[in-house]
Amino acid sequence: MESSSFIRRLPKAELHLHLEGTVTPETLVELSACNPGPPLDLAQARALYQYTDFTGFLMAFKAVTAHLRSPEDYELVTWRMIERLARQGIVHAEVYVSVGVVYYWRRCEFEPLFFGMERARARAEAELGISVFWIFDAVRHFGPEEAARVFRKAAELRPQFPSIVGIGIGGDERRVGAEPFRELYAEARDAGLRLTAHAGETAGPENIWGAINIGAERLGHALTAALDPELMDLLAERQIAVEICVTSNLRTGCCARIEDHPLRRYFDSGLMVTLNSDDPALFQSDLEDEYCLARKGFAFTEEQLRELAANSVEASFLPAERKVMLLRRIESLE
Ligand code: ADE
Ligand code: ZN
Repeated sequence: MESSSFIRRLPKAELHLHLEGTVTPETLVELSACNPGPPLDLAQARALYQYTDFTGFLMAFKAVTAHLRSPEDYELVTWRMIERLARQGIVHAEVYVSVGVVYYWRRCEFEPLFFGMERARARAEAELGISVFWIFDAVRHFGPEEAARVFRKAAELRPQFPSIVGIGIGGDERRVGAEPFRELYAEARDAGLRLTAHAGETAGPENIWGAINIGAERLGHALTAALDPELMDLLAERQIAVEICVTSNLRTGCCARIEDHPLRRYFDSGLMVTLNSDDPALFQSDLEDEYCLARKGFAFTEEQLRELAANSVEASFLPAERKVMLLRRIESLE
């Protein structure tokens, strides 16, 4: 989608982005040439990114993740992700990494992979001036015991790596709601981690209530909040940030038509709305595209786009001083 200079120059934070979902088929081909097993050609790599519904999308996400093997792979995909973020005028990102998939499907240690990610993050911060935090994501349908391993690893590594800012649950909420994770969320909070959860993407508003009730500070998608006026009031009153991912919802079929998407309604109802890309390589849409879509598909004015960018900074887990500095830059952009 064609971007305006205003959108590109607008300092933006991206708060709902999966590292594995930023990996392009071209990069998978490159990685597979160095990894054990038969190398992939581009057609084979592209075939992994095909899906027709939400379950198929989760399988595609897993298939892509399965091709990330070594610390060097994680370092490379992190570097490429941050380069792309910088090109879009993104100044800060909070990135989910599917630690749950590594533990459950691959049965391997996460630390060496994380050290690769950290090398790229530190270099990108120094060279590109962009800050990146990590959110360790568990796969909810693998259950609380698997999630415990993910969250405890985040708590264990955080003192040494303050870039680990929080935890979350992704995966299939039609199979598991938020309640089974209540104690683990309390434990993570006590360890100084911030709490997020995918909620109301494929399941109804009861799952959003569930996520709020276990302490989630930010909600991934929250598409179905629109069905519950009481919940809408609560979200507006408490300013609980919603991480809206329009193209993701359309491509996975969670939202059938753009006309049905509640982005405009949430914004007009005073919710703390942020725009995000979720898995840009799987949805062929990055954050800049999402801002363009808000303008063209939902009639957001430049001033309203500025407000969305300010929301993304306010709803981030950045320290107050950096928030203030970025908010000033957003306000003064001409
Ligand atoms: N993992 C990656 N993207 C996801 C999404 N949109 N919902 C649930 N789990 C995911
Ligand atoms: Zn997501």
